[in-house]
Amino acid sequence: MRKIFFHLILVTVIVFWTLIKVPKLLHQYLSERRVTHERKVTECDENSTVIEQNVEIFANLDDWWNPRGKLSTLHKFNVIRIPFIQNGILAHTGINTLNNIKILDVGCGGGILSEGLAKAGALVTGIDASAALIMIAKEHRNLSSGLPNSNPIYHHNTIEEHVKTHPNYYDAVVASEVIEHVNNPKLFLKSCVETLKSGGVIFLTTPNRTIWSYLTVIFFCEKVISIIPKGAHEYSKLITPRELSEMLTENNCSVVSNQGIILNIITRHWQFIKPRSLMYAIQAVKLN
Ligand SMILES: C[S@@+](CC[C@H](N)C(=O)[O-])C[C@H]1O[C@@H](n2cnc3c(N)ncnc32)[C@H](O)[C@@H]1O
Repeated sequence: MRKIFFHLILVTVIVFWTLIKVPKLLHQYLSERRVTHERKVTECDENSTVIEQNVEIFANLDDWWNPRGKLSTLHKFNVIRIPFIQNGILAHTGINTLNNIKILDVGCGGGILSEGLAKAGALVTGIDASAALIMIAKEHRNLSSGLPNSNPIYHHNTIEEHVKTHPNYYDAVVASEVIEHVNNPKLFLKSCVETLKSGGVIFLTTPNRTIWSYLTVIFFCEKVISIIPKGAHEYSKLITPRELSEMLTENNCSVVSNQGIILNIITRHWQFIKPRSLMYAIQAVKLN
């Protein structure tokens, strides 16, 4: 009896130790990787937002328009992100249609979100650092019924180049699942905001930088069930809601909405939730 009792105590102590210690060790490990990564980033070209190896990962995917392919999660994401953007713009401007609203989709990839926004009535410009993806986006637009060849329009370009010819031009800017893939996110965000008219709206969606997002987005979704391309996310490049809000404020923007997002891995359905520990969507307005 004494022996069983002793073993029970021992097992309980081990379980508790593991529950407390493992997340701490994981956090320590990830933080060290972050420091190493930041050292590497400072050696990158600070005037460019592009990380070539990361852009290649998405450019190498040939099934952008397969709703059950490697990018099926982005297709499903349209179900909640298009109303989020549409309602955000309508509520802010007080108008009742997206018709003639100029939206810039930064890092548009193969055009999954750009086409959705164009079908909702907006005049969309999609830009991406990958020439191959801009080609895919153009080809798909030309085949899509109900879309003229001039909407969305696509350019192979980075935001820091695009802003030079389009400052204070757009009513809204969208960067969905992009800021976590760029070099120099401060330059990226500053350039996005500079393309906005004053009073314009910016929308960003991105994973948070937490142990939970590491375990779900990077470990589980990339490495275990492969519903996200392997190597697409680097923990150290993830940005927290607070960091992003601060960056927006530094760029003369006022945050009006900041919500958590979750993907149900079984049904593959997205929904907005209160906690932002996994992913989040932020909406901000450029002040005068
Ligand atoms: C995860 S995909 C998101 C695609 C699209 N926004 C969507 O949600 O359907 C990330 C995209 O960002 C693009 N990208 C990465 N860095 C970029 C940069 N600095 N400038 C423009 N595009 C970039 C990649 O080429 C890729 O197409």
